[in-house]
Amino acid sequence: MTAKFIKPKFITLEGMDGAGKSTHIANIIEILKSQGREVVSTREPGGTALGERLRELLLHENMHAETETLLMFAARREHIATVIQPALMRGAYVLSDRFTDATYAYQSGAKGVAASKIQLLEQWVQGSLQPDITLLFDVPVEVSMERLASARTPDKFEREGADFFTRIRGAYLQRAKDNPVRFRIIDANRPLDKVKKSVEDIISTL
Ligand SMILES: Nc1ncnc2c1ncn2[C@@H]1O[C@H](COP(=O)(O)OP(=O)(O)O)[C@@H](O)[C@H]1O
Ligand SMILES: [Mg+2]
Repeated sequence: MTAKFIKPKFITLEGMDGAGKSTHIANIIEILKSQGREVVSTREPGGTALGERLRELLLHENMHAETETLLMFAARREHIATVIQPALMRGAYVLSDRFTDATYAYQSGAKGVAASKIQLLEQWVQGSLQPDITLLFDVPVEVSMERLASARTPDKFEREGADFFTRIRGAYLQRAKDNPVRFRIIDANRPLDKVKKSVEDIISTL
């Protein structure tokens, strides 16, 4: 009898605040677990004790956009070294609510940090590590803002205006265009069950 070897997968969820990333994570975990996989579900910024402390600062303190970028990557280094890499090494699937594409979208696309600086940090912190697949939950800016308004008390990023969100959406869509093999764009401006079905279709192809 030959055991089927299934390569562990690093899956990231991206998209604007309010697009529905967190809403769909539980279902993805359930699908993968039902296939007998170990699943590590995590998030950025955060994912480690230190990372969660940095998250508090990142989401609530005003700071220079490059400081923000450096702290994001400091948290990411810890996250990769202590959570993501060990999980992938032991064959687990890793599911992260945001990763480096978010740094390109928020700190570069929306706040103007040079993409070349982010690339340098990405190379340093990640080496060759990249997500295998990235689900981009895409919604129009007005929809994102409406959902946020009724969902929760906004953090520093979520309090920004429509221009900021428009730049983020544009930067994400450009990232998807530049990385067509890795990205799957999900039209998240549909009823929850329709979005859920699209997510399930993608996960089932893994
Ligand atoms: N397809 C959808 N239709 C309507 N409301 C949605 C949909 N997806 C998510 N929501 C709601 O929008 C809010 C933000 O969703 P959330 O998953 O927290 O987004 P994110 O994690 O991307 O910021 C929540 O109140 C959620 O219930
Ligand atoms: Mg969320």
